[in-house]
Amino acid sequence: MSLLFTLFFFTADTHRKKLTLLKIAMNTYQNISLKPYNTFGIEALAHTFLEISKIQELNEIVKSGVIKDENFYILGGGSNILFTGNYSGTIIHPTFKGIKILEKNKSFALIKVFAGEIWDSFVDFCVENNFGGIENLSLIPGNCGASPVQNIGAFGVKVKDCVKSIDIFNIETAETKTLLNHDCQFGYRTSIFKNKFKHSWLITSTTYELTTGNHNFITHYGNVNKELKKLKEVSLKSIRQSVINIRTKKLPDPKEIGNAGSFFKNPVVSIKKANEILKTFSDAPTYLLSETETKLAAGWLIEKCGWKGKRVGNAGVHEKHALVLVNYGDAKGTEIINLSEEIKKSVFEKFGVRLETEVNFL
Ligand code: EPU
Repeated sequence: MSLLFTLFFFTADTHRKKLTLLKIAMNTYQNISLKPYNTFGIEALAHTFLEISKIQELNEIVKSGVIKDENFYILGGGSNILFTGNYSGTIIHPTFKGIKILEKNKSFALIKVFAGEIWDSFVDFCVENNFGGIENLSLIPGNCGASPVQNIGAFGVKVKDCVKSIDIFNIETAETKTLLNHDCQFGYRTSIFKNKFKHSWLITSTTYELTTGNHNFITHYGNVNKELKKLKEVSLKSIRQSVINIRTKKLPDPKEIGNAGSFFKNPVVSIKKANEILKTFSDAPTYLLSETETKLAAGWLIEKCGWKGKRVGNAGVHEKHALVLVNYGDAKGTEIINLSEEIKKSVFEKFGVRLETEVNFL
C-alpha cells in the first residue's frame, strides 16, 4: 500500500472513530440523501450529516474534532440552497427549537427564537400573540436560524427592521457572541453572515423587538391593500392572511414543485441606466433607492426576455413568477445552473443588466 493510501485509510478510520463517539451524543449519519433537506428537491448525498437538536451538542462537535477532518456547511431549512452535486464534507443541521418571551410591556416585546424553529410558525406565533412587525414576512419558507443571514424581506418589510440581537456560536473554536442589530451589516438580501462570518459562525437564536401596541402596519406594497380590502379590517391577522393569499396565488409551494423562491436578486442600477430602459419599456417597474440608484424587478426583466413558463429538461421558469426557477422532478443542480446562466445571458443581451443569484450554491 502506498503512503498516500495508508494516510487516506488512517484519516478515514480516525474520522469514523470520532463519529462513533459523536453518535452517542447526537444524530449522526453517513452518505445520507439531502433531498428532504432542500426545498429545490435536488438529489445529492452528504458524506457526513450531523443533526443537532440541543445547543450543548455544538460543544460535543467542537470537542470531537470531527469537523477538522473535512469541509463543513451549516444547513438551515434548505430553502435558499442549490446542491450542485454530492457533498463530500460534513453538513451541520441545527434543529434546536424554542420561543421565549424575554420581556413584554405595553409598547413592545422581546422574543427569542431558536434556530431550528420554522420561520412561518414563528410568524404565526407572533401574530396570534399580538406581537407586530414580521406579519408581512408570512409564508417565507425556511428556518429561523437562516432568516437574518440573507435578511429576508417581502412586502416592504425586512427582517433587519425587527432584529434586536443574534446569538452565535463558532463551530471551530466553541466561542459564543451576541451581535446587536448594527453589528450584523444588514443590506438587501445580505448580512455579515454572508460575508465575514460566512464560514464558521452558526446562529443559535435571534431576539426580535416587536410591537405590542400601536402597531406600524405596512400595507402599501404590491397588492397588500387590495387583498386587505377583501378582508375588511386592518390587523396583524388580516395582513398575514393577505400576504398568504398573495403568495399562494403567485409563488409555487415547494411541497408541490421544487424551488428556492427568488433565484436572483433584484438588480440595483444607476438612475441613468433605468431611464434608458424606461425609454423603450415604459412599463418597467423601478424602485428608487437613492439619488443615484434604482432597483429593477428581475422577474419583469426575465419575463420580457420570454422565459416565463419555459421548461428546459427538468428545470424551468415558473409560469406565474419568472424570478422563481423550478425543479420539475429529477433536475440536477447543474441543470438549474445552466438554465440560470442562459437567463442571465439573455437579460444582459437585451437590457445590459447583470443578474446576481440570490440562492447559494454548494
Ligand atoms: N413581475 C413581472 N413578471 C414576473 C414577476 C414579477 O413582470 O414574472 C413584476 C411584477 O408585476 C412587479 C415586479 O415585477 O411589478 C416585482 O414583482 P413582485 O412584487 O412579485 O416582487 P419581486 O421583486 O419579484 C421580491 C422578493 C420576494 C418577495 C416579493 C414581495 C427579491 C429577490 N424577491 O420579489 O422574495 O416575496 O418581493 O415583496 O427581492 C424570495 O426572496 O424568495 C422572495 C420570494
